[in-house]
Amino acid sequence: MGHSPFDQFISGDDEVTGLLAQEWDRQTSTLQLIASENFTSPSVMAATGSILTNKYAEGYPGRRYYGGNHIVDEVEDLARRRLTALLGADHANVQPHSGASANVAVYQALLQPGDTVLAMRLDQGGHLTHGSPASITSKIWNFVSYGVTARNDDPTQPGEVIDFDLLRALAHEHRPKMIIAGATAYSRLIEPAIFREIADEVGALLMFDAAHPIGLIAGGSHPNPVPYADVVTFTTHKVLRGPRGGAIVSRAEYAKKIDSAVFPGMQGGPLEHSIAAKAVAFREAAQASYSAYTDQVVANARSFASALAERGFRIVSGGTDNHMALVDLQEFDAELTGKEAQEVLDRAGITANRNQIPYDPRSPFVTSGLRVGTAAQTTAGMTGAEFVQIAELMERTLRHRTDDHVLDAVRQEVADLCARFNPYAGFSAE
Ligand SMILES: Cc1ncc(COP(=O)(O)O)c(C=O)c1O
Repeated sequence: MGHSPFDQFISGDDEVTGLLAQEWDRQTSTLQLIASENFTSPSVMAATGSILTNKYAEGYPGRRYYGGNHIVDEVEDLARRRLTALLGADHANVQPHSGASANVAVYQALLQPGDTVLAMRLDQGGHLTHGSPASITSKIWNFVSYGVTARNDDPTQPGEVIDFDLLRALAHEHRPKMIIAGATAYSRLIEPAIFREIADEVGALLMFDAAHPIGLIAGGSHPNPVPYADVVTFTTHKVLRGPRGGAIVSRAEYAKKIDSAVFPGMQGGPLEHSIAAKAVAFREAAQASYSAYTDQVVANARSFASALAERGFRIVSGGTDNHMALVDLQEFDAELTGKEAQEVLDRAGITANRNQIPYDPRSPFVTSGLRVGTAAQTTAGMTGAEFVQIAELMERTLRHRTDDHVLDAVRQEVADLCARFNPYAGFSAE
């Protein structure tokens, strides 16, 4: 059983220590293909588990409501400085507890209740906070949705990509106060310039929700939306490889409104231990080695998507430009749902998530698709060859999903592969 470097501090609590050790073992002996996950550095984990968790710091650097914050102020200032430098932004707010909080704070800062927002449909790749009926966002603001074009198997003109004709028509019809670019399950490049053009045509604000690609943007593998968007929100824990959390960067003119919307508008005391860990991650993301990493993440996703396609899986939009691929299972096996695929793969040691595909005939709970990502296993050192092997393991698992011998054999091969590519090799005490 592996141990984290921090287990020793939880002395006497065998229950929590035992669970942490089990999770350590799970993460390092099975394949992590969830597109929104990564393996943070030990430095990020150390900052997250640091003494800053003790400190209340409502307010912002230099304007706190409690005493004793002169050091915390430096931590938060450092995180803000590193982030504005990383993205070339005027202003940064590093306090949002999550990507969802960051989005709602921006709406609260820049919109009035009832204002119209144009965003991507949840069932075609958008996020819950982009106006899903299940989200509070749809109860306060009036969301209109754009989506993706129809499927098209011509590789020179892939379908299932953002439908900019529809987006432009909806923008002119509804005159939204804000347009949102960004998605949760979309494998193609999201070009900020086209969104800016359409936003300008109708006088809308442009928010770029870069939760998924922000790491690719920081590494220079994808174009930076900061020069185009009024505001960019994101999570810090996906390709970016920081602690769980969110952040907002914006033009200077929106700084005050956004800061007030985060605190006291929505949140109380900031998580300064997470903010210190964000600062660590922003520094890591500014290194040349991080750019090499993000290029490798994209190259691995392309190898993975091609290898899956060669094995009978249809890749939505015919490929990928980022860290994920959306797999349509229907042609591989019409009976196989995303839910069953996820469960069987889990038994074989391959962790991925079911996902609706555009125009999915099945419900969001069942789905006809799987979303897979390369961010975490690329951090562990895997390259194209390993992702080709993973595609083969996935095919074998799903073809023989009722055969326990096959599942056991795959699980063993997965464990062998993970043992060769352990992101925390120096730390696990086997
Ligand atoms: C596009 C997008 N926005 C916002 C979020 C919300 O992030 P969080 O889960 O940290 O609230 C996500 C998370 O997956 C996302 O994909």
